[in-house]
Amino acid sequence: MRHQALLIAALSASILTACGGEPADTRPGQPVSARRTAFKKILLAFEPMGVALREKQYDADRFIAQAGELAKVKDGPWRHFGPDTNYPPTHAKASVWSEAQRFAAKRDDFLLAVDRLTQAAASRDEKKVATAYDAVHDSCRSCHKSFKD
Ligand code: HEC
Repeated sequence: MRHQALLIAALSASILTACGGEPADTRPGQPVSARRTAFKKILLAFEPMGVALREKQYDADRFIAQAGELAKVKDGPWRHFGPDTNYPPTHAKASVWSEAQRFAAKRDDFLLAVDRLTQAAASRDEKKVATAYDAVHDSCRSCHKSFKD
């Protein structure tokens, strides 16, 4: 009996890994998938700005457009962190829910940092832009440290 249970456990583990290592998000509205897609959009909007700055290819007009893209997607993930949405395949830590106020504060820091990046971009001052970019980057990292596996 015990043996069989182990075999079944091993089999279901291999079924899970067979489809990309992760169980599918089958909940109505797929909140985990929705927020992960929204974070990917944030990353896609954010990354090109870092590349431009690191490669010394700052272009004020392009940066204004890129900061605008980030501003457009910055609100995407947050409404998908509903109370009952901590389940596989999430990479969120349980602290998102157990320390909800601190998570909300980190989210607000991020939203503010994005607003400041938009303002810095409008100033066309590369130094201000670089500082504001770093602040957004720090806000991603700081939240991930406490709230993402
Ligand atoms: C307030 C907290 C917070 C901030 C700010 C934040 N993230 Fe995240 N991020 C998370 C959490 C929590 C997850 C895990 C979501 C899940 O798996 O359910 C995540 C997941 C991700 C993922 C993985 C998506 C996937 O495919 O699973 C990427 C990429 C990402 N974030 C990029 C960023 C970038 C880039 C920034 C800043 C520009 C950022 N995040 C800001 C909390 C945050």
